[in-house]
Amino acid sequence: EQFGGNRVGTIRLEPDGWFFTSPFITDANKIYDFKFKPTDIVIMTFPKCGTTWTQEIVWTMVYNPNLDNPKRFLPGIARCPFMECDFLMKNLSKPLFGEGSFLHDAFVQANPDRNPDDGIFIQLAELTENPRMIKTHLPFSLLSPSLAENSKIIYVVRDPKDIAVSYCHHSRLLKCHNFFGTTSDFVDHFVNDTLVYSPFWKHVKEAWKLRNKPNVHFIFYEDLKADPRSEILRLQKFLDLNLTDSQISNIIHYTSFDVMKEREEKNMVGSEMELAELSNLEVQQKDGGFFRKGISGDYKNKLSSEDIEKINKWTKEEYSRNGN
Ligand code: A3P
Repeated sequence: EQFGGNRVGTIRLEPDGWFFTSPFITDANKIYDFKFKPTDIVIMTFPKCGTTWTQEIVWTMVYNPNLDNPKRFLPGIARCPFMECDFLMKNLSKPLFGEGSFLHDAFVQANPDRNPDDGIFIQLAELTENPRMIKTHLPFSLLSPSLAENSKIIYVVRDPKDIAVSYCHHSRLLKCHNFFGTTSDFVDHFVNDTLVYSPFWKHVKEAWKLRNKPNVHFIFYEDLKADPRSEILRLQKFLDLNLTDSQISNIIHYTSFDVMKEREEKNMVGSEMELAELSNLEVQQKDGGFFRKGISGDYKNKLSSEDIEKINKWTKEEYSRNGN
């Protein structure tokens, strides 16, 4: 079946309706049992909301304010481990980060006493230096309560119409998603909550409920795009940092779309060659790579008026439900 999921098949987790790849189910408890520390900084998002961008901004603010940390050349998902990544990918015939991949082999070399089959990313998340920076697309209810209790959580969200465009592109671009449908098919999956990490609105609402906690920080992609300096200043307050104006200016430039695209696209998984192997080159040439466009409102160019209406209607219904 073609859908915005993963070719290993997806499954709905009841009673809440979370939609996942089947290997995730086997290991969901392992992820749930991951204990967060008060010093952890967790970037939590529904896919395609600006995770990679936020990770790079936050990692740079904390670890690389002078842009000279030698670790800056490591893939972002290793510096800020994507904690559930192994379990999403596990049953692929050619696992994304299996033996022979840069990340797998670097992990084995650096941690000879660890078994990569227990998951590279969850172990990287465990082992990474303090303050640990961790990426997840999982919602609060599938993660340990220790997270909401006291870790620093940065939740990024974006206009769902732009998410639909970006997630659809991502699902066509990365071969493992095996999605060959139309944009309209994809929008149907989005509003019917049959994408990996759906239901979108449940994901957002769980975080929104916690927005007033002092350890929860919300970012809207659109705000970050319109005024990165203000958002970085807000982040600096949240993270209790003390960067100079010139450091902030340098970080804004270093994490701007064109500069990041140039630097990170080839660096994302360890090598340009590996990325090319994972990507559908036809899609890449036609519509761009992982760093597709990086703007707000591109849905106006990409979605039909029917699809826009479908998402708007879904949004309105979700807003009126339970008074949220
Ligand atoms: P588009 O497909 O709309 O271009 P995620 O990291 O959560 O998967 O999100 C990916 C989206 O963020 C993509 O959106 C990508 O281009 C955009 N993005 C990545 N880096 C960015 C940056 N530095 N500035 C603006 N947008 C960025």
